Parts: sequence; C-alpha cells; structure tokens
Amino acid sequence: MLTAHNGKVIIMTNMKGGIGKTTDNDLLSIVGSQLFHKKILLVDYDQQRNTTSNITSTFQITNYNNSLSYAIENHNWLGSITKLSDNLDFIAGSFSSKGLVDWLNEQFPQGEKRDFAFKDTFDELRNVYDYIFIDCPPSADNLVQSFITTCDYIVQLQELKRFAMEGTQTFTDEVLLKLIAAYQDKVHFQIIGILPVLFSSRMDRQKEHLRILKDRYGESNIFATIIKGSDRLEIYGEDGIRLKDYFDRRIWGIFADIFCELEQRIQYYERTGDTEGFSYTPQFADSIKNKILAKGREIKINGVATTSGSIK
Ligand SMILES: Nc1ncnc2c1ncn2[C@@H]1O[C@H](COP(=O)(O)OP(=O)(O)OP(=O)(O)O)[C@@H](O)[C@H]1O
Ligand SMILES: [Mg+2]
Repeated sequence: MLTAHNGKVIIMTNMKGGIGKTTDNDLLSIVGSQLFHKKILLVDYDQQRNTTSNITSTFQITNYNNSLSYAIENHNWLGSITKLSDNLDFIAGSFSSKGLVDWLNEQFPQGEKRDFAFKDTFDELRNVYDYIFIDCPPSADNLVQSFITTCDYIVQLQELKRFAMEGTQTFTDEVLLKLIAAYQDKVHFQIIGILPVLFSSRMDRQKEHLRILKDRYGESNIFATIIKGSDRLEIYGEDGIRLKDYFDRRIWGIFADIFCELEQRIQYYERTGDTEGFSYTPQFADSIKNKILAKGREIKINGVATTSGSIK
C-alpha cells in the first residue's frame, strides 16, 4: 500500500538557456534525497537530456527503465521509473519533446483539458514522494505549460543581468499570470522564491541588480543563498556530481541550505498563505564568502553520490 506523502511538485524556471536550471535541479534532488532522506522523483523533460547525462555520469547508469515519452503516452509514470538510490527515483528524458507536444495536442485538442492533462498523474505521484522535481527546457511549450498548471511551486532562477531580469518579468507576465487569469482558482501554483544564480560578487553591477531585485520583489521572496559562477559546478556538468573533497562539500552545503530554505518557505507559505515576513539564515555554507558553516562541516566526504544508503 502507498503511504500518503503529500508531495510537492516543483519546477525551476527561466526562459533563458544555460543559467543552471538543470544543474541546480539535479543537485537539489540528490542532496535532498541523500542528506535529508526525502523521497524524491527527478523527471527529465528536456530533449537535450542534460539531466539524464548528469545522472548517467553521477550514478554510472546507462540503461533506464523507459523514458518520459513512455510514461506519458502509456499513462504509466510509476512503471517508467529507474531507482537511483534508496530515496531517489528518476524518469529519463526522451529524444523528442516535439513528438510529446504533438502527442499532447492530438490527445487533448481542447486547451483546458490539455493544460490539466497531468493533474491525475501528479495527484498519484504526490502520494508516493515528498518532492517531484521536473527539469524543463528553456521554453513554454504546451507540455511545460501543462506541468506548470498542475505543479505546486515554482522557483524562479534569476541571473543578475538586466536582460535576464526583464526576461523573468516577461515569463511571469506572459506565462504565469495568463494561466492564473485563464483558470483562476483551478490553478494553485505559487512562486515560492527567486534564486539568484551565476553571481559574481566582484561585479558592482550585479550587486546593484541584487539590490534592485530585493526592492522589486521584497527581500522575503529572495533566497538567502545565491549561486555563484563556479568551476566546480561546471565540472559536475562534465564528470557528474561528486562529494570527494572540501570544495565539493562546500557546494553540497550551499545546496543543503537551498533545500532547507525551500522546504521552510513551503511550510511558511502553507501556514500563513504568504511568503511575506519569511527569512532564512544559512546553516551549512556562506555562499557569498565561500565559507563552510557548522552544519556543513558535518557533511561526510564519502566519494560520490551513493547508489544506496545515505551520505551521513
Ligand atoms: N553556477 C555555475 N557556475 C558555472 N557553471 C555552471 C553553473 N551552473 C551550471 N553551470 C554549467 O553551465 C552549463 C549550463 O548549465 P545547465 O545545463 O544547468 O543550464 P540550464 O539553465 O539547464 O540550460 P538549458 O536552458 O539549456 O536547459 C553546464 O555546462 C553547467 O555545468
Ligand atoms: Mg537545462
């Protein structure tokens, strides 16, 4: 029998390509499942299959039980899962998102039915997992839109550059607000926070943009941890995610804080109906000063993401 988990479906968004959506999504899934023992499903919906590549190099898995197209076209998500560790499950990416979008449009020619095509699926998955992270491409195709319509929380990634900041506003206005206008109370997704990424603290202009971001959206809507441009994160994209040395531990600490903050933001929002007044103090790493903090020092450096058991 399934235990009810009251799981949350989470999507990290930004229309701009190459700003770390996939990397951050994958790290949150791995860190959340291994350090915090949360039951997590990671789903790759991007025909670039970057998450699938990351998982292949991290867990040395080359054969997957089906892929997302099988899951969707056969209404069988649970049957398409590859188990990566005790707490982390995965649905691999497919090579053609166009094929999936065409399939969705044929099955559901009517807009509203299409936009809610995954409602029953997500309701079923919420019973099995604590979190479902869906990696999406940098677009708002009909499939992405259907995922957003029935997801619970959106984390907006924000590069601190003027055009990127305008792009985020456009995504909010053109995609999110339009879905809310069309479906009102039928949609319940919430932007749970804005996560600044690819930050370089040496650049005064970026600090200025961070100030503008806080003024515009309110400090309580901005994650306390920011993700800097990092050679180590770039290497993870080549070699897979590792936990072999002190640099890795700092990265895992940064993502441990983002995961804890995400969880606390959700709890706060579900308790108060707002994120106004929320604050979080990093416990694992100081991402600006590149320092590991007390709880971060407890993360055991044990080589690689393990295929069984937890990291502690
Ligand atoms: N903070 C970072 N610092 C430096 N490199 C990074 C960082 N985050 C990700 N990268 C690297 O940048 C590249 C793009 O990252 P990623 O694929 O995660 O971006 P994305 O937003 O998912 O891209 P897309 O929009 O194409 O899906 C990868 O090579 C990755 O390893
Ligand atoms: Mg990506």
